[in-house]
Amino acid sequence: MAARSVFLPGLFGDKVAIVTGGGTGIGKAIAGELLGLGCNVVIASRKLDRLKEAAKDLVSRISPANPSSVTALQCNIRREEEVESLVEATLKQYGRIDFLVNNGGGQFPSPTEAISAKGWNAVIETNLTGTFYCCKAVYNAWMREHGGAIVNIVAGMWNGFPGMSHTGAARAAVDNLTKSLAIEWAHSGVRINSVAPISAMVCFLLSPAASFISGETVKVDAGQSLYRSHWEVPDHNRWPEAPEGENADTLKKLLSNVPPSKL
Ligand code: ADE
Repeated sequence: MAARSVFLPGLFGDKVAIVTGGGTGIGKAIAGELLGLGCNVVIASRKLDRLKEAAKDLVSRISPANPSSVTALQCNIRREEEVESLVEATLKQYGRIDFLVNNGGGQFPSPTEAISAKGWNAVIETNLTGTFYCCKAVYNAWMREHGGAIVNIVAGMWNGFPGMSHTGAARAAVDNLTKSLAIEWAHSGVRINSVAPISAMVCFLLSPAASFISGETVKVDAGQSLYRSHWEVPDHNRWPEAPEGENADTLKKLLSNVPPSKL
């Protein structure tokens, strides 16, 4: 079945998008929605077999009347030269790059004290440096002269990301990079925003309906970040002694019935 969308069919007719990590999950959903809206899509990631399978599946879902195409290109976004080749190959095939969706990323759960230097660097290189390489390459090769729209997929890390601090740090950095590039590249007609996550919002931000939105990070979480934390802080007995004095005595009385974790 064709990817369903609330947007007008043909909204992205003749446009070209690169979606990193476009072979699975959210990346594939974004690629499918863009494709359904008439966009030619290049999906890129490290595993060519999986990408080709995804491309076949995506193409099978679009209507025969839709002329858009999907191309699978292998690229490790941690390698700048591979990112440059991806951009070059896209331009060679389609002659333009209107949109970049930085969705390629990865992480693993671990207490911070157990993350090795190798593990830390891998997550930072994929989620932050890879995003930087892709933005830089499409800007230098195309968007500087022709404008365009970029969306970075991040994660809900507004209150830190206990249990996956490496990806929290990387995604928060991408949020900041988004703001810097929105200003630096505005004169080229490039807009850049971040989404945490979901595909309809990506299409909205790439569309002309968002032509006055740049440097923004949009939460698509049904308000979850406002009311719930996944992390329970266990109780402990290492609270500092209050300094002696009248205020401390009053404070101790006030707090004597409150467990420290609830303070
Ligand atoms: N998705 C996850 N890791 C990736 C990488 N290194 N390159 C491209 N896509 C990815």
